[in-house]
Amino acid sequence: MASAKVSVVVVTCGGLAAYAVTARSSKEGKTVGIREIEAVRLPQAKHDGAFSVEKALAKRRSVRHYADEPLTLTQLSQILWAAQGITSSGIGLRSAPSAGALYPLELYVVAGKVEELPPGIYRYAPQGHALMKQADGDRRHELERAALNQAWIARAPVVLVLSAIYRRTTIKYGNRGIRYADIEAGHASENVYLQSAALGLATCAVGAFTDEAVKRVMGMGDSEAPLYIMPVGKPR
Ligand SMILES: Cc1cc2nc3c(=O)[nH]c(=O)nc-3n(C[C@H](O)[C@H](O)[C@H](O)COP(=O)(O)O)c2cc1C
Repeated sequence: MASAKVSVVVVTCGGLAAYAVTARSSKEGKTVGIREIEAVRLPQAKHDGAFSVEKALAKRRSVRHYADEPLTLTQLSQILWAAQGITSSGIGLRSAPSAGALYPLELYVVAGKVEELPPGIYRYAPQGHALMKQADGDRRHELERAALNQAWIARAPVVLVLSAIYRRTTIKYGNRGIRYADIEAGHASENVYLQSAALGLATCAVGAFTDEAVKRVMGMGDSEAPLYIMPVGKPR
């Protein structure tokens, strides 16, 4: 596993918190803290494959029973790229569309059994295709309890959590920005379904959970709303 400690400058701008993996604060922003975050560089994702999109659409199913097998870091990398990966250089357009290319979604990995990745909570950083460690330890059971005890959540080797920071879109679109961010979670989620199917893996979109409980487990702030939980594993 390629892991490195990086200094992260937390800057605020119009009420938004952003993490810059450099030692510079933005011109308009105010530096509110510096902390060391462990970054895990992910294997490069493939941009081509033999499994057709039609096959993936036909095969996609919500699956709630997973084999007791770890995911590889390469499989996880591919799924994260499908959900929110950068697909063009320049301003960094992504695999899923976003209103005004404002990208209100955050994507987290709750790792239980992933080869070369210690159990913990990680935030996916599309720029750099890396994981930023947020917390140590296996938190899948806590997430299961926060999601009305849906037992398959803790049985999957890895669980993705999609959230929105609405202010990124409402700042431009007003209240309609909330709708846009919610719609975008659907795009990212479908990408996870299709990529999982193409890799011989499976997932299930989970929307039934207690927001506050999920936020507590994930360490989300007031400005962030959890939208989807997606356990991923090999179907049993
Ligand atoms: C918005 C949304 C919320 C959902 N929430 C849950 C959930 O909390 N638990 C669950 O087991 N499945 C959940 N599902 C999955 C649906 O049950 C599933 O999509 C449906 O049964 C159709 O099956 P299919 O996805 O295999 O076609 C959710 C799906 C959507 C779109």
